[in-house]
Amino acid sequence: MDPSRITLRPFKLSDADDLLTWAGDDRVTNSGRWKTLTSKEEALTFIEQFCIPHPWRRSICIDDRSIGFVGVFPGTGDDRCRADMGYAIAVEYWGQGITTRAVKMAIPKVFEDFPEILRVQAFANVENKASQRVLEKAGFTKEGLLRNYFYLKGNIQDVVLFSFYFVG
Ligand SMILES: CC(C)(COP(=O)(O)OP(=O)(O)OC[C@H]1O[C@@H](n2cnc3c(N)ncnc32)[C@H](O)[C@@H]1OP(=O)(O)O)[C@@H](O)C(=O)NCCC(=O)NCCS
Repeated sequence: MDPSRITLRPFKLSDADDLLTWAGDDRVTNSGRWKTLTSKEEALTFIEQFCIPHPWRRSICIDDRSIGFVGVFPGTGDDRCRADMGYAIAVEYWGQGITTRAVKMAIPKVFEDFPEILRVQAFANVENKASQRVLEKAGFTKEGLLRNYFYLKGNIQDVVLFSFYFVG
């Protein structure tokens, strides 16, 4: 994959068909809090009501077509120093270094867009080795194992916490 084909940009309503192809796949959505999409109408609603108003959620694109997302949710108040990161891409693109590149592209942009953020953190299920590897390759530091930390789709999770922190 020529890395210059990989770009990040905000979602658009015209991404609905492409979004449905990957966000309609349980293998992609199982690790996220959002439910698997089942129709173009749901994809349009998801873009309109969740992706567009989101504080920072970008479509990972190949040749400007959406194949996944990377996003951060910044904290507020006394938590304004940090943001939680998430990402996923279509199964057919797994294992080509695309998410690692997308995370590496996202990090400086997030620090630029949110000057108060000093730390981006990510939680990966202890069994999600691919996600942990992405974070390692993108320069995150592994901080520890958090047992029974939150529920995901009804199942309690043991997660590994990673951070990328700003050294000014
Ligand atoms: C996790 C995910 C985003 C990774 O995306 P990707 O584009 O395939 O990631 P990359 O190709 O950049 O890197 C994956 C790395 O994990 C490694 N990997 C994959 N499966 C692995 C496994 N079972 N055990 C160990 N390493 C594994 C790959 O070999 C690669 O490392 P390498 O370059 O050192 O060989 C993708 O699998 C996905 O969308 N999964 C579903 C959603 C998800 O889990 N999101 C994260 C929630 S925390």
